[in-house]
Formats: sequence, C-alpha cells, structure tokens
Amino acid sequence: MIVPGSSSQFLAAALAEETGRPLATPTYDRFPDGEGLAAVPEFSGDEATVVAATDSDEAWVELLQLQDAVREAGATDVTTVVPYMGYARQDQSFGDGEPVSARAMARAVSTETDRVVLVNPHEPGVADFYDVPVEVVDAASALADPLPDDLADPLFLAPDEGAVDIAQTVRDAYGDGETDYFEKHRDRDTGEIEVSPSDAPVADRDVVVVDDIVATGSTMSESVAVLNERGAARVLAACVHPMLAANAVTKLRGAGVDRIVGTDTIERGCSVVSVAPVLADALD
Ligand code: R5P
Repeated sequence: MIVPGSSSQFLAAALAEETGRPLATPTYDRFPDGEGLAAVPEFSGDEATVVAATDSDEAWVELLQLQDAVREAGATDVTTVVPYMGYARQDQSFGDGEPVSARAMARAVSTETDRVVLVNPHEPGVADFYDVPVEVVDAASALADPLPDDLADPLFLAPDEGAVDIAQTVRDAYGDGETDYFEKHRDRDTGEIEVSPSDAPVADRDVVVVDDIVATGSTMSESVAVLNERGAARVLAACVHPMLAANAVTKLRGAGVDRIVGTDTIERGCSVVSVAPVLADALD
C-alpha cells in the first residue's frame, strides 16, 4: 500500500497508478498545542511504502509518525520514499558545536523502515547516514519532457560546477544542445550570489539553466539575469526540487525567466513532470 505524507499526495497517487498498488488515505490532524497526528485508520496488509517529501520540520515529524503507524497497523515490510530530503545540505558540521543534521534525520528515519529510496539528494553522501539499505534515484532526465521541442541552438547550463552532471543528463534526455557551467560565489554573510562566465556564446540561443534545487532562488535568478543581459533568446529554469522558498518565484520573474520547470518531488505550481515512473522502476 502506498502511504502519502501530506505534502506528497499527487506524487503518491501517481506512484500508486504506476505500480498498481492501492493508495492509503491517511489523516493529518493537529492538536491545540500544535503537535501533529498523522494516522492510517484503514491501513491493512504486510507491506507499506511511505512517500513523504521532508520539505519542512512538520513533514519530518509526519513521516516518522506514518512509519510508526503502519508498523502499528501490522506492516512487516516498510519502504520509505523520500522524494525530497530536507537537511541534505547540512551534510557536515560547519562550525564548533554544530550538528550533522542530515545524519540526525537519516538515523531517525531508519528506525522504522527496512529500506529508503532518495531522489537526487543534494549531497549523495547523505545516503551513508542511513542505517538501512538506500537506493538513490536520478530523476533529472524527466526534466527534458516538458521542455519545448523547438529550443533554438540550446545550451544546458549549470549554475555551478556541482550541477554539471545534472545539466548533462537533461541535455542527453533532450537529445540536442551543448552543456556548460558558471562559477558561483555565495557571500557567506549576505547570501548574495555572483556567477561568472562561462564564455559560451548565448546571444539568440535558448538557455536552460539546470540545478538540483531552487531554494531561495538566488542562484537561479542571478544566472537568469546574467544570461538575459548577454542576449539569450529565452532563459528557462529547470530543477528536480522546486523548493521555491519565500519570494523565489518573484525573483525569477524579475530576472526575466521564460518558465520554471520542476518535478513533483516537492509539489509546487511548476511541478509539471512526475518522478513516479522512475520511482516505480526503483520499487520493482
Ligand atoms: C548548490 O550547491 C545547489 O546546487 C543550488 O544551486 C543551491 O542550493 C540553490 O540555492 P538557492 O536557490 O538558495 O540559491
């Protein structure tokens, strides 16, 4: 049975359809003191696949409750699909007294599951923090599907060197175009982003900026603005995880983005393509 977290209901339904497994209908309640209560009143069976993006602290708690709830209801085989793993960028202790937050979360999630499936975790090394077997799924190729068929002399550009592989994957899936990357510098105090060339010519070309995640949108909007200043025809933003926190969408619009394309690892208005098919393959 597929058991959705409240923030992954579209994806869980798509995954139920892809796999032919029944979809549970959990309840998500909250007590007056703010504590949550996620439950699976009608759950039955030995097998549960909990699907829950951990895009907020509430979502982490809900995931732990759903894992525990299906065990209570009799599940002996539990798979946990984390389409977006929050805290994956805190994959080390960055200063005295700081936790390795990704490890703390992974250990907690490992307690009531037999295996974990992650989609494009920000740092692949976080998979090692789990105490159960982990499968890492790369869903980046799905981002090629919703791109226009008529991209002009396309350039798939990573906003930093770390995203080059993902840009290459999208280019390969699209079947046409070049790849390149910017050098990125983030000011640690202000969070401001600066990107510097790539010398790739962009005038009159369609450029797809590809990243694993758009969080505050600073990286993507700065990249989009620079490309527009250099005369790109259209600049599209593509990401696996459209977190789009705070005013990210407005920043991107202000920078002149043509469109934002994301998957449903985090369900947003721009989640135009589902990772359900690639997850269904992983669950086979
Ligand atoms: C950085 O390593 C990532 O690939 C993203 O570029 C970054 O996390 C995006 O963050 P933001 O949207 O806040 O600039």
